[in-house]
Amino acid sequence: MDIKISPSILSSDYANLQRELGRIDNADLIHIDVMDGHFVPNITIGIPVIQALKKVCDIPFDVHLMISQPYDYIEAFANAGADIICFHAESEGNIGATVDRILFFGKKAAIAVKPDTDIDVVLPYLDKLSMVLVMTVEPGFGGQSFMERVLPKIQKVREIRPDIDIEVDGGVDYSTVTLAAEAGANVFVAGSAVFGAASPADAIETLRNNAQSVMS
Ligand code: DX5
Ligand code: ZN
Repeated sequence: MDIKISPSILSSDYANLQRELGRIDNADLIHIDVMDGHFVPNITIGIPVIQALKKVCDIPFDVHLMISQPYDYIEAFANAGADIICFHAESEGNIGATVDRILFFGKKAAIAVKPDTDIDVVLPYLDKLSMVLVMTVEPGFGGQSFMERVLPKIQKVREIRPDIDIEVDGGVDYSTVTLAAEAGANVFVAGSAVFGAASPADAIETLRNNAQSVMS
């Protein structure tokens, strides 16, 4: 499986987003956390900011929707420049209809699951999904600790679908990236581990190398 590092701009300097993107130009994806203050207690950035960033960045956008009503906003996020649209299985609305709407707008579909959500909820949709996001923290905030108890969910999806992208998000650092990679993940979100480093670009390469070291 290809390793992809997807730095989360949640931990970047929001006053200088274009400059921050320039510091991670070796990233495979750009992870953008959208929060509505309802599905999660926090509020972050939304459609106009994604639209603006799209004009200054060629790296695909991995948009993680932590919002209660994703179905209603798929068209807007697709038009704004999302390349992968990831919504939560725990959000409101019909999961299958939301997946189909993402595909209708020509984007890659992904479903995210919170740490306490049974992974079986995504299994009926695997044939349509490009990626499954297994959260390794409770969504809402950066800088939390990686939950190892979530790892069996990654193993289960990897056994069923050797070819699908499996993303981990939350508490991924130079050490925990190897645990996730051993379990079968190949897409790694990192916020504080990348933007908290003196050189975010070097941090990306270290994460990539550490994941590679345990993958066959
Ligand atoms: C949390 C977000 C994450 C967050 C990860 O709800 O989904 O993408 O930015 O931050 P770190 O890597 O600092 O745990
Ligand atoms: Zn995220």
